[in-house]
Amino acid sequence: MTGTAPQPIFLADYAPPNWLIEEVSLTFRLDPVATRVKSTIRFVPNPDAASRDFFLHGEHLTLIRASIDGTEVTPDLVEGGLTAAVPDMAFTWEAEVEISPETNTALEGLYMSNGMYCTQCEAEGFRRITYYPDRPDVMAPFRVRIEGGLPVLLSNGNPTGSGDGWAEWHDPWPKPAYLFALVAGELVARDDSFTTMSGKDVDLKLWVRPGDEGKTAFGMEALKASMKWDEEVYGREYDLDIFQIVAVSDFNMGAMENKGLNIFNTSAVLASSETSTDANFERIEAIIAHEYFHNWTGNRITCRDWFQLSLKEGLTVFRDQQFSGDLRSKAVCRINDVSALRGRQFREDNGPLAHQVQPDSFVEINNFYTATIYEKGAELIGMMKTLVGEEAYYKALDLYFTRHDGDAATIEDWVRVFEDSTGRDLTQFRRWYKQAGTPRLMVSEDFNNDTYTLHFEQETPPTPGQDEKLPQHIPIAVGLIGPNGDEVVSTQVLEMTEAKQSFVFEGLGAKPTPSILRHFSAPVILQRDSSPTERAFLLAHDTDPFNKWEAGRTLAKEVLIALSTDEDASLEAYLDAIAIMLRDDSLDPAFRALTLGLPSQDDLAQTLFDAGVTPDPQKIYNAQQTLWQAMAEHLQDMLPRMMAEMEVSEPFAPNSEQAGKRALGLGLLNLLNRLDGGAAAKVLYDRADNMTLRLGALGYLLQVQKGDAALAEFRSQFDHDELVMDKWFSLQVYHATPDQAAAVTEALTKDPAFHWKNPNRFRALFGALGMNHAGFHHASGKAYALAADWLIKLDPVNHQIAARMTSGFETWRHYDADRQDMMKSALTRILATEGLSRDSQEMVGRILNG
Ligand code: TRP
Ligand code: ZN
Repeated sequence: MTGTAPQPIFLADYAPPNWLIEEVSLTFRLDPVATRVKSTIRFVPNPDAASRDFFLHGEHLTLIRASIDGTEVTPDLVEGGLTAAVPDMAFTWEAEVEISPETNTALEGLYMSNGMYCTQCEAEGFRRITYYPDRPDVMAPFRVRIEGGLPVLLSNGNPTGSGDGWAEWHDPWPKPAYLFALVAGELVARDDSFTTMSGKDVDLKLWVRPGDEGKTAFGMEALKASMKWDEEVYGREYDLDIFQIVAVSDFNMGAMENKGLNIFNTSAVLASSETSTDANFERIEAIIAHEYFHNWTGNRITCRDWFQLSLKEGLTVFRDQQFSGDLRSKAVCRINDVSALRGRQFREDNGPLAHQVQPDSFVEINNFYTATIYEKGAELIGMMKTLVGEEAYYKALDLYFTRHDGDAATIEDWVRVFEDSTGRDLTQFRRWYKQAGTPRLMVSEDFNNDTYTLHFEQETPPTPGQDEKLPQHIPIAVGLIGPNGDEVVSTQVLEMTEAKQSFVFEGLGAKPTPSILRHFSAPVILQRDSSPTERAFLLAHDTDPFNKWEAGRTLAKEVLIALSTDEDASLEAYLDAIAIMLRDDSLDPAFRALTLGLPSQDDLAQTLFDAGVTPDPQKIYNAQQTLWQAMAEHLQDMLPRMMAEMEVSEPFAPNSEQAGKRALGLGLLNLLNRLDGGAAAKVLYDRADNMTLRLGALGYLLQVQKGDAALAEFRSQFDHDELVMDKWFSLQVYHATPDQAAAVTEALTKDPAFHWKNPNRFRALFGALGMNHAGFHHASGKAYALAADWLIKLDPVNHQIAARMTSGFETWRHYDADRQDMMKSALTRILATEGLSRDSQEMVGRILNG
């Protein structure tokens, strides 16, 4: 590390902008290495500001000239921008800068991807395009003119004119600079239209590179479904004449909600049955909805500053989760969302990177696009909805949209809307935004004289910088089930506000079995001693699908924990319960497929650490293999018949019904594969006519070391398709044995198709290595060293991705001394790198010291 540690900025230091903007005009003359950007900006003094000092952000810009009210000026170029002497009243600023999109590998600001120009401005990328007050509370209507010898020239808002080599756009809705977008290139569009609830026709365009037209139909349908859903459920109508999506191959994240011109990672929009799995289709549908929903929750109402990021992201994730639940299976979606929350957010919240949903400070905002801001943020919205009820929730949202339309708002504004519209006091609930860490919720019970009592105790462990925790306001949805399996008390929401609190149920003839935290009503870790018999009983009788699944998962988890710690493990209760569940045709195949899944090895490692046991990754891996094998043997009689029942005879459709059958079929094949040494997987691979089955079968072949021929065949068939080749890279690493994972990864880094500057390709390989728990944590330490080498190599090229991926090491303190030493030295080596980015410095520093 060179120089001093990067300095944080603080929420408490927020001050309103000195100058506001009435209107912006931008002219781009495109050139790969010398693009000229002319800006004309009408500044007006902000009556709420204390000062008239004038500062514009700017980075990696060459200033050509600047003027104020027509008079040339020479601004002071300072760290991160410029200052200038300005009049005491409204004035017009003009400037011209030069930038080099082709050499911009960070993929923020204006850059090039596959010969096309595109932008990514969130969070602070606009300052790499021109000098500007690049903060979300400065909002303005934009006029944009693009000149460049390319057929398609796009920006935000409505088109206002175009001719040979130029186009003009006008976005009438005031927006912050982070929502600016420009795209130029040789692109082709899928066209469609949507008639809004008030009868306005909106042009829809999904732009792709020639050759990808065949992968646009699904995305377009998802867009129309999203537009309709937001009208029906939230009463939100679209507000421009045109809505466009562009697919880009080089993109740091999933997608971006630029006003009227969403930009998508190709992986988050392009879909076809030959190249995309059911999981891809589902993710694409959700991301298209997410970005579209930002039009109201993010764009019309934006964030005052980046400490409010969860205001738009938490709410928009909550909305896209609702949407997916409505279109697909609510129960299955909820289970998947909770699994993702536990896998990523709980992991984050219980380690050195734990932070508040509304942080008090940060060094680099790019490092705060996290599971906590997004997924925990969404859970907080869900809890508010549970607490006030469905009707009051939508009433509060109506007030939010009318009161704050056009605002750069705060999380406090959001909570206040709920208080004002419902009359509830949410003072204690606000702690969820300010207190990091996952609460533990301990439950015990007693029963006498027909009275049943549940005793709860809550405790949140300390997190970096926050030692003392106060009790949270926790909505606990509970139902009670009688001895014969009938529900005797249907779901009610208990509101826990104290550190310890008991709830009494009277008039029960016999001791019931409680179903606690139904629908996962709060993001907490529930701790309850209970017998395998009771869990099996809930698995059979719970009417709440989430808790039904949870009972099976807990059973499996207990077995796996016992197996990984050499304790006596009794598998009977679990195996019998799973067999009954699988045979139950009244259950959705997708749900049954989920019950066949086991908790991840990473999840087991975290659970062991929490219980004071040092996890041994190889033993955890072996435990999982043992349990799969036992399941296979126990269920072997039913596997072939059930697999046949899950065959889909209709033509492929990416709907949840078919996807559920394929998921269950593949779940069963995972078991059969352990008995037949890959025979059935080979048959499936050869006849699969869609990517879900083909990739599933290939994975199973790799698992039994019989994948070589299929891998080569797969590559020759798809080597022209980047997104499929990403799968080819991932799969090999993901399915490598613990002993081979590092070597397989290293060999793949030498493959000519390992285009490591492409974020999708880099993530395909090193993301998969991180997901291969026993491989990443192999006792040799080879995977740690390899990951560090490559993060060091990536950092100067793409600091966002490099920094983000250091989180693979965030659990380093959970392991034994040898592994800790090796991970620590990998991290120290990254931190010691000359010229390491601020992003990576912050991340590695927090991981090491937190
Ligand atoms: N706002 C985007 C979303 O949630 C996230 C995003 C896209 C982003 N690209 C980014 C965030 C680059 C930081 C940097 O939909
Ligand atoms: Zn978002």
